[in-house]
Parts: sequence; C-alpha cells; structure tokens
Amino acid sequence: MSLRVLITREQLEKKTKELADAISRDYKDKELVLVGVLKGGFVFLADLARKIAMDVTIDFISVSSYGSSTESSGVVRINKDIDSDITGKHILIVEDLIDTGLTLNYLKELFNTKGCASVKLVAIMDKPERRKVDLKADYSGIEIPDEFVVGYGLDYAGKYRNLPDVCVVDE
Ligand code: IMP
Ligand code: MG
Repeated sequence: MSLRVLITREQLEKKTKELADAISRDYKDKELVLVGVLKGGFVFLADLARKIAMDVTIDFISVSSYGSSTESSGVVRINKDIDSDITGKHILIVEDLIDTGLTLNYLKELFNTKGCASVKLVAIMDKPERRKVDLKADYSGIEIPDEFVVGYGLDYAGKYRNLPDVCVVDE
C-alpha cells in the first residue's frame, strides 16, 4: 500500500480561509454553534474555527455508520451526542468529507427536529460522483474524484488522520 498526495496542506488552508470568510460574513451578529462530526471532522474544525472572525461556540457529535471500512450504509449510530442546548441557535455541521451523503443527510434531519434557528453544512472535501441522496453542502469544499483518501482527519482502519496533506491510498 502506498500514499500519493492529492490535496496539499496549502490548498486545504486556502479553501478553509475562503469558507471561514464566507461563514463570518453570513453569520455576523448571529449565535453560531459549530458542530464537529467526530472523529474525522476534528482537524478541519480546528482550522476553520480559528479563521472565523466572530464569537462561536463549539460542540461535537460522534457518529459511526454501519458497513465496511470504506462503504457507508446510511444507518448511523450516535456514539456521543452534543452536550449543549441548541434551541434557537444557528447550527453549522462541520464535516471532513461528503461521500454518499447518507451520514450528513441523517444528521441534518436530526438537528432539524431540535428547534434550531437554522441547520447548515460545511465540508472541506466533496465526492459528488458518489452521492446516493440529494444533498449539497451550504459551504462547499474541494471536489475530489471517486478515490479513497486519508489524512486531514480521514482514516483508513483508524490510521493516517494526522497526515497534514490529503492522500490517495493505492493498494
Ligand atoms: P457518507 O455518509 O457516505 O457521505 O460518508 C461520510 C463519511 O464516510 C465521511 O465523513 C468520512 O468520515 C467517511 N469517508 C467517506 N469517504 C472516505 C474516504 O475516501 N476516506 C476516508 N473516509 C471516508
Ligand atoms: Mg466523517
């Protein structure tokens, strides 16, 4: 198995800054809660949050979707729910990658039942070809081809989340 760089840390940083600027503009004077999706979303959330030029609060939800290590089944299990009261708040779900869209579709509907002022999505990466449900990020990240990637929060069997660049895994 070998790793080949697909997105450099510089490209990730540039896109993150663009997204943070748009978010800062759109949510000015609003109560924004960034909800990071664990585990993969932790790296992007940390970078994004530090580029947002306004007060935000931060929470995390941990989910796993049943299925094999590289295929999402759409059945989502909540391992850890958010801790804060989000009634009336603006929620921005912060995710590493949208693949089939099943996980985020589920999370969006879940938050929509909790009396939030709004629920939106930001993901630093997107594989549009793989979509199984009609779901678009409100703040779109970098489009990537249908290849399995690791790094910048994404793992293969629990490893490589700490790689600063996004790499394709070649078997
Ligand atoms: P979805 O429900 O199919 O959209 O998948 C969502 C999650 O599956 C992503 O947030 C990742 O955590 C994981 N995932 C999807 N594709 C990849 C990949 O290429 N590498 C690592 N994890 C992935
Ligand atoms: Mg994820």
